[in-house]
Amino acid sequence: MSLASELEAPPPAKIRLAGVSKIFTTNRGTVQALDDINLEIGDGEFVCFVGPSGCGKSTLLRIVAALERSFTGTAEVNGKMITEPGRDRTVMFQDHALFPWLDVLGNVLFGLKLKPDLSNKDRIEVARYYLQLVGLDGFEHANIHELSGGMKQRVALARALAPNPRVLLMDEPFAALDAMTREQLYGDLQKIHAARKKTILFVTHNVREAVCLGDRVLLFSPRPGRIRKEFKVTLPRPREFNDVAMASLAAEITGELKTILAPAL
Ligand SMILES: Nc1ncnc2c1ncn2[C@@H]1O[C@H](COP(=O)(O)OP(=O)(O)OP(=O)(O)O)[C@@H](O)[C@H]1O
Ligand SMILES: [Mg+2]
Repeated sequence: MSLASELEAPPPAKIRLAGVSKIFTTNRGTVQALDDINLEIGDGEFVCFVGPSGCGKSTLLRIVAALERSFTGTAEVNGKMITEPGRDRTVMFQDHALFPWLDVLGNVLFGLKLKPDLSNKDRIEVARYYLQLVGLDGFEHANIHELSGGMKQRVALARALAPNPRVLLMDEPFAALDAMTREQLYGDLQKIHAARKKTILFVTHNVREAVCLGDRVLLFSPRPGRIRKEFKVTLPRPREFNDVAMASLAAEITGELKTILAPAL
């Protein structure tokens, strides 16, 4: 595998979930986290998931990542059953989950461990490429504890991108960041999405964020977790967080969300 081919856009990835249901059983009883989810996500599509706490958003992402493997229904990438985690699908969580004993470069290189064909020199070049892409040029040898929260999430993003996955699974990745840092990251993520041709599944509690980033926003309702409504976002890109047209769509989605949180009596 050459360095050039490593940096090319990966092959297309379409995701299909059919009749996906998930019940958790604990000693306190059972919870239906997901109920009959049917969903197709096109190659290169950016889909955002919003909904009240506990409606199964993380569970759905974990099923696509194959971190959760006991469920009913089918989950496929390009018509192939998802059975185990793979470098075609990487995950980024709210908590950056970086390794504090490795420096910035070491953390991104870790994401390349699954690429046995690359030489060490090429690995370092790939890692540097992604660090540059997320705006961390020059921080290769910084310690993790020296970084701000936003920088840590940038490292986590570079680590998730480094294996060149076609599918990026992001679970509230910016939730713990300040508003200014988040807005910068919205711009950066849109550029990366356009440049690197990713299919992105993105969970957030922030409806404005979902409208800013998504081609589609799926609103979930809880107990059991179901897709309540779908909103297409056709506004031109790159989108600015404070765009007025975006605000009105976000208000519509928030209105619908409120009816889920406090159903009419
Ligand atoms: N490992 C588990 N064991 C038992 N129940 C679980 C487990 N994981 C999730 N659940 C339950 O499944 C439901 C869906 O959880 P999930 O984490 O997917 O929701 P979520 O939409 O991501 O919520 P949040 O917005 O708070 O992150 C919840 O009721 C939760 O308590
Ligand atoms: Mg969650």
